[in-house]
Amino acid sequence: MKIEFIDKAKNGVIGVVLFEGTEAKISKTYCIRQTSDFKAKANACQVAAIDGDKTIIFAGLGKEAEYSNEILKKAVGKFVACAGQYKAKELTIDCTAVDDVASVVEGTVLAGYSFLKYKPTDEKEKTTLEKLSLITSKPKNTSEKEAGHALLVANTVNYVRDLSNEPANVATPTFLAKAGQQVATTSKNIACTVLDKKKLEELGCNSLLSVAAGSTQPPAMVILDYKPAKYSKTIAFVGKGITFDSGGISLKPGKDMDQMKFDKNGACAVIGSVKAISELQLPIRVVGVFAATENLPSGSASKPGDVVKAYNGKTIEILNTDAEGRLVLADALAYTVANYKPDYVVDIATLTGACVVALGNSFSGLTTNNDKFAESVLEAGIQSGDRCWKLPLGTDFDDKIKSDVADIKNLGAPEGAGGALTAAAFLKHFVGNTPWVHLDVAGTAWTTSQRDYFVKGATGVGVRLFVKLCENLVKT
Ligand code: BES
Ligand code: ZN
Ligand code: ZN
Repeated sequence: MKIEFIDKAKNGVIGVVLFEGTEAKISKTYCIRQTSDFKAKANACQVAAIDGDKTIIFAGLGKEAEYSNEILKKAVGKFVACAGQYKAKELTIDCTAVDDVASVVEGTVLAGYSFLKYKPTDEKEKTTLEKLSLITSKPKNTSEKEAGHALLVANTVNYVRDLSNEPANVATPTFLAKAGQQVATTSKNIACTVLDKKKLEELGCNSLLSVAAGSTQPPAMVILDYKPAKYSKTIAFVGKGITFDSGGISLKPGKDMDQMKFDKNGACAVIGSVKAISELQLPIRVVGVFAATENLPSGSASKPGDVVKAYNGKTIEILNTDAEGRLVLADALAYTVANYKPDYVVDIATLTGACVVALGNSFSGLTTNNDKFAESVLEAGIQSGDRCWKLPLGTDFDDKIKSDVADIKNLGAPEGAGGALTAAAFLKHFVGNTPWVHLDVAGTAWTTSQRDYFVKGATGVGVRLFVKLCENLVKT
């Protein structure tokens, strides 16, 4: 999508963002007879006037005192959705009410996304947004810089949505590994290593291999090592990459099982984050790791009661093969901290249904062994829009995952009590003393209906957060 800066609205579809109480003033600017019924409340959107070749749409920001950049992104998202009916390839947005060019660009690019790879060509042509014209009172060079940065990040979020929306028959573990390799060859300073099944066997990644046991698709652990010329800190991002989660022998119910193609979202977010951070050439080393496999039932699949030894030597009793995310992350986390010794590690995983019950769809669950590091992730969440909410961890849940026959078991308290927390308590065994944040994105990785600036499907959660976190870390 191209962006240009203009002084005065041209013909076409024009969005105007405005605060409550400024309706009369804005209506006058656009020579619109003030419509008495439109109040610029947050989330309100209305076609204000159709005047010859101009269609003017108002998008409310609510009260100025309650403003946040998230409100602006949502307002822009509402406008883009509303403008969709005109099938315009170009849109104009007047954002002089708040000159936050970055949020306007981000909101537009994210809301304008659609996944049409498997649709006819004419439908693709009709719906692709090609140009955004912005009216802002900010100086042009600042606007261009802000817009360029926002466009890069939002385009990467959409790239991750593309990966994540791919069906499981296409997006196999090998497909994800290839996507990682592709990013390494097209971006700067990234080395990609693919650990295949044989290598994983040699390394003793038996926990990951136990999940892959039921599938004919070979698993892979992929490392994308972004190492800029200058850096002082290393952060690792570790993603769950289950390309399809049927539950395995502990088979899931059939209803909505198709959604489990999104169980690879953590891996997709890792690929996209390393890509964006490299393109921005941030002076921080980023080790992006993901463990990719299918989780399927078959004669060779793991069974409840099986015991495996993970990369770090811990033994795990598998009591439910549907709690496979923690099994693949166990090896990926242990391998990452042992071999790359990062200053920080963040894992991202569609890990538990319990997290969705607890937090719903706008906050990812955050657990940690280091409150200070957690603070910086929470802050980056607020700034970027990928918001997180802290859940308790400490030592309270340790005894819930004690096993009778092994060091730990992959299932927590009966009836799933505190399911998101016992999952985190399990992961804690694989990070040692490295400052660590675990993000459960089960509720935020995809949406089943249009929400804010997201259309149905993958949201690309994680990219905006990780980019912002790294930008903040290099400043401190
Ligand atoms: N991928 C699922 C978690 C999930 C569920 C994500 C719904 C998004 C929406 C995960 O592998 C899983 O099945 N977890 C189980 C764990 C349980 C068996 C301890 C769950 O949450 O039910
Ligand atoms: Zn599962
Ligand atoms: Zn899963």
